[in-house]
Amino acid sequence: MTTVLAMRAIGKSFPGVRALDGVSITVAEGEVVALLGENGAGKSTLMNILAGVFKDYEGEIEIGGEVAHIHSPKDARRHGIAMIHQELNLVPELSVADNIFLGRERAILDRGATEARTAELLRGLGLDLSPGTLVKQCKIAERQLIEVAKALSQNVRVLVMDEPTSALADAEVRRLYEVIRDLTGRGVAVIYISHRLEELQEIADRVVVLRDGQYIGERTGINRDELIQMMVGRPLGEMFPRADGDTEGEELLRVEGLCVPGDRDTGRTALRDISLTVRSGEIVGVAGLMGAGRSELLESIFGAHRPSAGAISLHGAPYRPRSPKQAIDRGVALVAEDRKAQSLVLGNSVAFNASLSSLGRYLRFWTVDRRREGTAVEQQVRALRVKTPGLRFTVGNLSGGNQQKVVLAKWLLTAPSLILMDEPTRGIDVGAKAEIHALMSSLAAEGKGVLVASSELPELLAMCDRILVLCEGRITAEFPRGQATQEAILEAAMARQQETM
Ligand SMILES: Nc1ncnc2c1ncn2[C@@H]1O[C@H](COP(=O)(O)OP(=O)(O)OP(=O)(O)O)[C@@H](O)[C@H]1O
Ligand SMILES: [Mg+2]
Repeated sequence: MTTVLAMRAIGKSFPGVRALDGVSITVAEGEVVALLGENGAGKSTLMNILAGVFKDYEGEIEIGGEVAHIHSPKDARRHGIAMIHQELNLVPELSVADNIFLGRERAILDRGATEARTAELLRGLGLDLSPGTLVKQCKIAERQLIEVAKALSQNVRVLVMDEPTSALADAEVRRLYEVIRDLTGRGVAVIYISHRLEELQEIADRVVVLRDGQYIGERTGINRDELIQMMVGRPLGEMFPRADGDTEGEELLRVEGLCVPGDRDTGRTALRDISLTVRSGEIVGVAGLMGAGRSELLESIFGAHRPSAGAISLHGAPYRPRSPKQAIDRGVALVAEDRKAQSLVLGNSVAFNASLSSLGRYLRFWTVDRRREGTAVEQQVRALRVKTPGLRFTVGNLSGGNQQKVVLAKWLLTAPSLILMDEPTRGIDVGAKAEIHALMSSLAAEGKGVLVASSELPELLAMCDRILVLCEGRITAEFPRGQATQEAILEAAMARQQETM
């Protein structure tokens, strides 16, 4: 096989952080190489260097046997490198077509051709969107696929995908695999970053492991335990620590006949006649395909949307939150799906973000007691093992997974009695994932209620006392722990409306 890309002795420092130190990797034509490592290991940084995000770095990049000077995104494009970034880079106010061809003026001038080409790309990815749709109207999974389309619209030799499937459901993941196989069949080299080890088994020819900015080793066969040992460098806690929960606890949340109108502009799914309960001490899961209404359900309980019918009670008392603020005041927290847009002020510090929703707890004589705030934040940041140089570090400069942990810290600091979690382990490495699962269990053991939506069925199956299945905004099934299977859940998730009437 011909080597198409070699990165040699790459180093990169940020203030206070040595993100990469002497890392070398090579990739051959038509090969899929996976980058594996804990949150903050340096995966995105290495690939950002390749994509020209950083002007300065140490080491050398060779493409097609020649030294390539890559110091801007334009340089990278010229060398046939395309990257799908972990934190999506689309412009919400522009259309799908404009986003895909952004920065290429010729394409913008010939609108007809651009739209036709966009339609073709979208079709290839099985995306049912028109080229003129504004990106802000697209769901997060759709945005991820639009990023893929954007990369494919260029003439690529090396395609980098930084957690491309984190927002995708099974069927979409399959489609993405087909696209990857098609590309590698044509000689394109793919570098693939993912925390889902099962995925690597399926798609990667070789796995390169990074830890703390250093190259640890690589393997062609995928031995799960060995890879985890390589990336974590310490023994790991049990994967899904969940004993049978307390399903006899007091009723915490009751939702009855809840209807919430949809929204065409934002693509919000309407909820129809939703009834459910969550007891204290229980972890209840919400399964469903993309667009089934999982996020909408959690957001509605969090007071973000106005219901048109139905009633909710909390601790046996009526609960009609008109805003998230009112929900927080009643002890409800939502760990949202889209951390960048909904949860973090990226330009501010870890401490600022973590205490954002719980400031009221640190008020003394109308000023914030910074010391108490600092102690509480520090404890939580340590408990969740957030990798940050300090509490005053800018959140936007943390690795993706560590940003997600700050979101969790922020909500735990509000000391909620009901915690709504939307994809809580997306983008989280295996080690931290086990920690978050342990945390969910201990929250339940403390008598809190947890309602968790996830597109990872193994996670729901292992963690939940009960699983509700949503399809097109309705609950189509409910399984107690022990009776839920992957097949049964998928079947209910795809149930058509007439069958449920
Ligand atoms: N712009 C930046 N400024 C300062 N520090 C940064 C910046 N970008 C990354 N870092 C730091 O570099 C280290 C490596 O981060 P990187 O994003 O490469 O990790 P990662 O392996 O992609 O992790 P994840 O799995 O969480 O996405 C982290 O400690 C991070 O905080
Ligand atoms: Mg990353």
